[in-house]
Amino acid sequence: MSRRPFIAGNWKMHKGPAEADALAEVLKRALTGQGSVDVAVAPPFLSVPAVVARLKHSGVHVAAQNLHWEQQGAFTGEISGEMLRQAGVTYCIVGHSERRALFGDTDAVVEKKVHACFRAGLLPIVCVGETLDERESGQAEAVVRRQLAAALGKLTADQLPSVTLAYEPVWAIGTGRTASPAQAQEMHATIREWLAERYPPFVPRGMRILYGGSVKGSNAAGLLSQPDIDGALVGGAALVSEDFLAIVAAAR
Ligand code: PGA
Repeated sequence: MSRRPFIAGNWKMHKGPAEADALAEVLKRALTGQGSVDVAVAPPFLSVPAVVARLKHSGVHVAAQNLHWEQQGAFTGEISGEMLRQAGVTYCIVGHSERRALFGDTDAVVEKKVHACFRAGLLPIVCVGETLDERESGQAEAVVRRQLAAALGKLTADQLPSVTLAYEPVWAIGTGRTASPAQAQEMHATIREWLAERYPPFVPRGMRILYGGSVKGSNAAGLLSQPDIDGALVGGAALVSEDFLAIVAAAR
């Protein structure tokens, strides 16, 4: 079984409703009817309704960048998975390194958010990845294994194919410094091995593992040609339509 490539754009805190709509319109024109790559974009919450409306019938999915783990309640400033589903969101990024580093998303919080995605019927995109210090001190694999165990540990084998993983070395995010295809492939293979050690073969075979961290049109093909790299989670280059479309083209 070959895995369908998946390119997801994380717009982070960029593009209010009008700008988001304009970018979505360009993507819709370029991508409607292309069948070979799964594509999703993750606008900020406030721009989700405009982007969902614009991308209707385009085949491009809308993702959220975060969610709260409860369905509703006294959680000022938060948005639940149930609300996102009602708004037409399909995927939700969980455990992005910016959330982990800046907003207190610990391994335990990531686990709760993954379960909240399942409760709400959202498909989680779970991010893992080591910092530069962790890589330089030889702990990269141990860190990624710990993050995987926390995020996925309580899911059943049948739930796992609904999860997309994203390996994003923190030192490569927004820095212009990409992991080499060989470095990225090595960690992706480690992640697939981790899955193979714990679950029946359909899990490691079917789960998609995206690479993220300074992916651009110019380096996408090299990364995507690796056997265990099934797509990309794109930050900066997702904000410019030509750059993002070049990455989608490289995945075909
Ligand atoms: P970048 O971000 O492509 O700007 O490095 C990737 C990410 O944070 O997902």
